[in-house]
Amino acid sequence: MKNVLLGVTGGIAAYKSAELIRLLRQQNYDVRVVMTDSAMEFITPLTLQALSGHAVHTKLLDASEENAMGHINLARWADILLIAPATASCIAKFAHGLADDLLSTLYLAVQCPVYIAPAMNQAMWHKTVTQENIAQLIMHQVTLIGPEAGSQACGEIGLGRMTEASDIVAALDAPEQLLLNKKILITAGPTREPLDPVRYITNRSSGKMGYALAIQAEKMGAQVTLVSGPVALEKPSNIAFISVETAAEMYTVVMQQVSEQDMMIAAAAVADYTPATVQADKIKKQGDESILALQKTQDIVASVAALKDKPFTVGFAAETKNLEHYAQEKLQRKNLDMIAANWVGQAEGGFDSALNALQVYWPEGTKNLAMCSKNELANQLLTLISERYNAKNSA
Ligand code: PMT
Repeated sequence: MKNVLLGVTGGIAAYKSAELIRLLRQQNYDVRVVMTDSAMEFITPLTLQALSGHAVHTKLLDASEENAMGHINLARWADILLIAPATASCIAKFAHGLADDLLSTLYLAVQCPVYIAPAMNQAMWHKTVTQENIAQLIMHQVTLIGPEAGSQACGEIGLGRMTEASDIVAALDAPEQLLLNKKILITAGPTREPLDPVRYITNRSSGKMGYALAIQAEKMGAQVTLVSGPVALEKPSNIAFISVETAAEMYTVVMQQVSEQDMMIAAAAVADYTPATVQADKIKKQGDESILALQKTQDIVASVAALKDKPFTVGFAAETKNLEHYAQEKLQRKNLDMIAANWVGQAEGGFDSALNALQVYWPEGTKNLAMCSKNELANQLLTLISERYNAKNSA
């Protein structure tokens, strides 16, 4: 659970803070509220206390509050400081380091990320001094959410409306844009190798790991192309999507798409062997034994890593024993930049599970990513990939 310290300042949009608190709590944030004197002219502390489940803080020098949780304790408690709505006056105070009330003092005292959602009349927003103050705050690593354009409470139309509460929550959840404008090709899911018109060879991959990577990479700013084997998952939005069935089809599509990619992540469980011939008619039952002739498929990730201008190439290794040994061997033999090794065939993690754990190897190091949801794991793996990518490209 993350702790959000919500600062509410005095603007008509203060009524939206009530909905914001409700949505934040729905997302499992613990919310404590600080109100300025003018905010209390627009909405009562009692409303925000009821919604947040905590007493609202209003005074810098209040003996009782100071005992319960003084401004330094509040600042230490916060994982995020969010000001919504943020008036022109509060923005000006922050920009100049003025600390004459609880909220502006907290701004100086916190060491966590700060987000502001401005709300004001459009002329006030466009005023040079406001824009200078905003530029100052951005320089100080404050993240700006909005404002939005539209009709305003004062009757004017323009930029200055506070961003809707749901979009503010989404902005807090957005991961850092570590992969901004990077082109990433990701394979996911199993392949299906036909034997005859009614049967095929496949494996237990659900596509969850590869799809989580694609979705998280897009959230981190990447332009993602997802090449997916047959899975039961919904096609993710904002992602170029190509569906394939066999290892041969996946090979063809990947080799068509790979030029101009910055990175390739091979999370698909590709068949190593495919039936040597596909029978035109259903194979009939004959005798007690039947021997199937198989032939090797092309190794997709190794073919990508063999290209002259190869992208930063990340493979996976799915193992039931000797995880490190096999992963290191694949890293070298396939000429990969990184390999993410996972145990499969265990009670938890690996194929189909919502959870997974990875031991990641690259030529100079290794990192353990402990068991967690595949979404969270995707975040951690992509962060590591971006670090290694930057290290390789700055070398
Ligand atoms: O899909 P889920 O249910 O979420 O499960 C996730 C997963 C277990 C499938 C995933 O985390 C994973 O481990 N994917 C790789 C599975 C695999 O085929 O591993 P491998 O060790 O057999 O292959 C090594 C690497 O070579 C992989 O990156 C694979 O994509 C690639 N490969 C293999 C064969 C082939 N012909 N071409 C390839 O590119």
